[in-house]
Amino acid sequence: HRHVPHATENAVNRVIGSGDYHPEMPDYETFATYRAGGGYEKLEALRATGDWQAVQDMLMDAGLRGMGGAGFPSGKKWGFVRDAEGPRYLAVNGDEGEPGTFKDRYHLERTPHMMLEGMLIAAWAVEAETCFVYIRDEYAAVLEILRREIAELERAGLVAPGYIDLRRGAGAYICGEESAMIESIEGKRGIPRLRPPYVAQRGVFGRPTLVHNVETLHFVARICREGPEITSEVSRNARSGLRSYSVSGRVAKPGVYVLPSGSTILDVIDAAGGMAEGHTLKAFQPGGPSSGLLPANLDYVPLDFETLTAQGTLIGSAAVVILSDKDSARDAALNMLKFFEAESCGQCTPCRVGCEKAVKLMQHDTWDRGLLEDLCLVMEDASICGLGQAAPNPIRLVLKHFADEV
Ligand code: NAI
Ligand code: SF4
Repeated sequence: HRHVPHATENAVNRVIGSGDYHPEMPDYETFATYRAGGGYEKLEALRATGDWQAVQDMLMDAGLRGMGGAGFPSGKKWGFVRDAEGPRYLAVNGDEGEPGTFKDRYHLERTPHMMLEGMLIAAWAVEAETCFVYIRDEYAAVLEILRREIAELERAGLVAPGYIDLRRGAGAYICGEESAMIESIEGKRGIPRLRPPYVAQRGVFGRPTLVHNVETLHFVARICREGPEITSEVSRNARSGLRSYSVSGRVAKPGVYVLPSGSTILDVIDAAGGMAEGHTLKAFQPGGPSSGLLPANLDYVPLDFETLTAQGTLIGSAAVVILSDKDSARDAALNMLKFFEAESCGQCTPCRVGCEKAVKLMQHDTWDRGLLEDLCLVMEDASICGLGQAAPNPIRLVLKHFADEV
């Protein structure tokens, strides 16, 4: 994470020309190939005679939930936005900044049109006037792919020129928070807004805005093209659905693995080729630092939204990091809090001062449990956005599961 003064950067965050980047281009599915395989036929059919509520029902049948991390039912969001008076906008959140998360990049560097078709279906459903696509600046290849492929869509007449407005972030983690992203799209410094009103009512330039994560839209297209069964009929440990797990840490083959939502950490490690040689599972981060760390003895727990909430954590964006007997849970938690301290936007005191204070307290040989628990409570209750509210998770989970280290 680079610290770029985003107020000035964001004022010019339109993606212009191709000369800015020299990324190594992956071998992705181009417009011609995607189209040849039936791509955009679903979109065209829906635009011609489709009923948006039938598509909404299909998403609900599929059980599709927001893959950015919060898991809000996607079809329900469409209803909120449609209920609000137009003009309406759509914004794609591709500011994937959660440490350990790289699934959106994975999908966009392979099948960018799956997300683009999903986006255009969602835009049709809510009658969006413009689609803003906000991609983190670190994803140079993704920006280049989208610039090229959006031009192809315009050439093919599937969208009017300028209908898709590609924007780049400026290295701030907080701009992945949806209302901060919207501030950034508007050319301002990216700081979260208070809710309500929700962005579905007042988003970009105060207009109702449908915000979806990249992977969510990828699945919108797949569900529309292949049917809701592709997720609803995938079952594991009595949970249905599919997720893209970004797996890193002490595994043999780090990478993105698309697995059932009811997978356990052992299933995820299996998919990633097992533990790295010479390492034994000690702990795991289930979904980014916001989810903290769980101990190896919870290796039987399905990693779905509800089950992890009951464990005092969240699956979030499914950014799994595996720690082994050679790692320290205490050091990992401290690292997470240092990250939050650096990335806090500073707008509210419980988070700005709380993260800094937590880092200091966690550097003591022995943690002051009472003081840290008080601090966690204040941060969770009084912070404006998810960053400050979730920052206590690593502290609480280390106190609960790794007390011998602190
Ligand atoms: P949230 O629960 O506040 O909102 C989720 C979505 O539902 C938002 O789009 C919100 O506008 C909408 N929503 C919720 N209640 C609504 C209502 N009553 N009416 C209309 N719309 C409503 O969660 P938030 O703060 O957006 O996301 C938190 C998650 O983000 C965490 O689970 C974390 O894992 C994840 N995250 C992901 C990152 C990534 O790189 N993918 C980075 C950091 C966090
Ligand atoms: Fe900014 Fe932290 Fe407050 Fe969120 S919780 S608005 S990141 S200071």
